[in-house]
Amino acid sequence: MTDTLTPVLTRNWGTDRSWTLDAYRAQGGYAGLKQALTMSPKAVTDLVKDAGLRGRGGAGFPTGLKWSFVPQDNPNPKYLVVNGDESEPGTCKDIPLMMASPHTLVEGVIISAYAINAHTAFIYIRGEVAHPIRRVRAAVREAYAAGLLGANILGSGYDLELIVHAGAGAYICGEETALLNSLAGLRGQPRLRPPFPAVAGLYASPTVINNVESIATVPSILAYGKDWFQSMGTEKSKGFTIYSLSGHVARPGQYEAPLGITMRELLELAGGVRAGHTLKFFTPGGSSTPILTAADLDVTLDYEGLAAKGTMLGTKAMQIFDETVSVVRTTRRWVDFYKHESCGKCTPCREGTWWLAQILARLEAGEGEPGDVDKLVSVASSIGGRSFCPLADGAVACVTSAVKHFREEFEVGYTTPAWEHLPYAQSTLFAKEVRP
Ligand SMILES: Cc1cc2nc3c(=O)[nH]c(=O)nc-3n(C[C@H](O)[C@H](O)[C@H](O)COP(=O)(O)O)c2cc1C
Ligand code: SF4
Repeated sequence: MTDTLTPVLTRNWGTDRSWTLDAYRAQGGYAGLKQALTMSPKAVTDLVKDAGLRGRGGAGFPTGLKWSFVPQDNPNPKYLVVNGDESEPGTCKDIPLMMASPHTLVEGVIISAYAINAHTAFIYIRGEVAHPIRRVRAAVREAYAAGLLGANILGSGYDLELIVHAGAGAYICGEETALLNSLAGLRGQPRLRPPFPAVAGLYASPTVINNVESIATVPSILAYGKDWFQSMGTEKSKGFTIYSLSGHVARPGQYEAPLGITMRELLELAGGVRAGHTLKFFTPGGSSTPILTAADLDVTLDYEGLAAKGTMLGTKAMQIFDETVSVVRTTRRWVDFYKHESCGKCTPCREGTWWLAQILARLEAGEGEPGDVDKLVSVASSIGGRSFCPLADGAVACVTSAVKHFREEFEVGYTTPAWEHLPYAQSTLFAKEVRP
């Protein structure tokens, strides 16, 4: 058993009423903010840049660098927007973080807004998740009452208003420009870039958008310093992160560990694949990242290690599937999700995801037509890289990677239903009755 957990964001999750201001302060909370307020905004930005924090929302863009793009000579107000939409299948780290320790996020927001000279910040949370919305709002109220938000924060002369906004529940509203449209009351569809949000974002003003976990990591960098942060992770992927393990794993849950840990080590920490079974395939970073198989267990979980395997770290959501699972069924379920969530703005994604879903439905039912597997790959190649936003690339990643690794299993779908080839009841974790 490896012993490489590095609880920082998750450190206080098990404490009594961990979500309250008192509990957070008892664990040293808001020390990072106090430190930040002794520094200039630029020095805070430089510190986060030098520490090497990269965005935890999927793309891994350097956080401090993003902040430095905000044109400080622009006379418009600057905005900080936190992306808490978290709607991707398998992804489930931001919601637990907001539930267990909302003040870590609120503290991060104050420091980050200060760094970019913003006086208004928003936390955009997916609308269906009522509990975290209530909890973050309660933490914001506590922070206002304690002089941590509002006018003259902790006597520093710095003012910040923080608004918690509930989205309406659309995966595309996690895409940063669609999120900005949604926040401004427009239809949640992606915008053309440039201009990038740093120049013309919310209300056409300079805006920084960061993921919940990215912002929640900032207080620890201020409190403990860049050397401490850099002591974890790899040369190009610094620090620690929350990995979410779900599916056929002995102990599913959130595991906070350094970037660069291997998949084998992480799985070991979670007790391995469920007893009596073997690993078939897994997503390294949510359903929009190409799947890997048991042959890839020694991949390092950092941006570079996964890129070398043709996939991505994404949201670090490892969905684990054992040998009982039909990859045809899984792929169909994912594609149905993308078909439903396609915003309809561009033709390859709007039409193509429907085509993929129809072919996959045939293959799952054992009614595939000769050439269907090639057609699947061909339609996927007409969508990926040819659509307006990365939702479409994510939609085809599961298809092309699954066919690459398990082509023969898709071909079984010319004659045999997937539920006969791999009876679904064997892979289910909870339900007794399983319908195709
Ligand atoms: C379809 C789609 C959904 C996304 N959903 C989220 C999300 O729920 N949360 C998130 O932080 N980023 C999401 N992203 C990525 C954001 O566009 C953006 O890159 C991210 O919020 C930047 O934050 P970071 O630099 O801190 O990672 C999504 C992107 C796409 C294309
Ligand atoms: S790729 Fe899909 S989700 Fe993105 S803009 Fe086009 S239709 Fe909308």
